[in-house]
Amino acid sequence: MNRKKVIIDCDPGIDDSLAIMLALASPELDVCGITVTAGNAPLQMGIGNAGKVLDFCGRTDIPVYAGADAPLEKEYVNALDTHGADGLGESFLPVPETFAPQSLPAEEFLAQTLKKGDVSVIALGPLTNLAKLIRRDPAAFAGIDTLVSMGGNFRSHGNCSPVAEYNYWEDPDAAALVYDTLGAQGGKITMVGLDVTRRIVLTPTMLSYIMRLDPKTGEFIRKITKFYMDFHWQWEHIIGCVINDPLAVAAFLEPDLVSGFDAYTAIQTDGIARGMSVADAMRFYRRPANARVCTDVDVRRFWHLFLFRILHMPDEQLDLIDPILSGEVQP
Ligand code: RIB
Ligand code: CA
Repeated sequence: MNRKKVIIDCDPGIDDSLAIMLALASPELDVCGITVTAGNAPLQMGIGNAGKVLDFCGRTDIPVYAGADAPLEKEYVNALDTHGADGLGESFLPVPETFAPQSLPAEEFLAQTLKKGDVSVIALGPLTNLAKLIRRDPAAFAGIDTLVSMGGNFRSHGNCSPVAEYNYWEDPDAAALVYDTLGAQGGKITMVGLDVTRRIVLTPTMLSYIMRLDPKTGEFIRKITKFYMDFHWQWEHIIGCVINDPLAVAAFLEPDLVSGFDAYTAIQTDGIARGMSVADAMRFYRRPANARVCTDVDVRRFWHLFLFRILHMPDEQLDLIDPILSGEVQP
């Protein structure tokens, strides 16, 4: 199999962790490194959480690199209210004693690795590490084979302001530099934003099925998502939790699992619309498209991929997905 080399840039983070699990369960991917940025959790906490997930997956061979501990310009604001005091749903799992990040800084690893070409990046947090790479070595950034970002939103309302999604709100200057540089270099990012990730809800019913499929992995997922489910009920009266980041991995694995349109997209850096991703769907600005803006997703296909890859769902149970998603109990 011709495996695709990929770097996962993330801020673990509950849904980042589920995304890492999906990537590691996908044989067509060669995860050559994980770079961590401050975001959901402060940098060192995020690094430790990456170590916890890699240890659970039996993949402590994958190197973890320390990236940015704060946004380019703005003050760092964490999302521990959503991800818990430990950044992993207050599961309070121990950091493996043998785990340690690499000494090489993330931006150096990114520069060295990406300039070789044919390496992709799946970005699951604020884009600070990629922005620092651009400042350091724009040619290496141009060398990214495929870039997918969980971030932004088109018609869906924001999740940390009326108009902005957290990753792009947290470091809007970084997001703006990445999108502007893509435009200047003729590149394109797949923006897996809230319009599609809000459709991916881990419900109690789905979690119950996951725990039956694989009690060990199910218990790990239950532990790290309980806090997240409580948060979603408290703030949005959702029964379950939106798992944003795994969809970015799924979109990388199967690009036609999501659909949308290509457009010039810019990120607002300041003011009331800070972090807003402005996608020029009607081509008012007549600028070349620098983003593939995702607006629809095959939800059933996502869950088939997620359950099959991580939980080894048997093919003969494929028909269970629809009633689980719909909540209807089959007679
Ligand atoms: O807005 C959701 C995104 O912000 C997800 O990537 C979540 O992990 C946080 O980083
Ligand atoms: Ca994330």
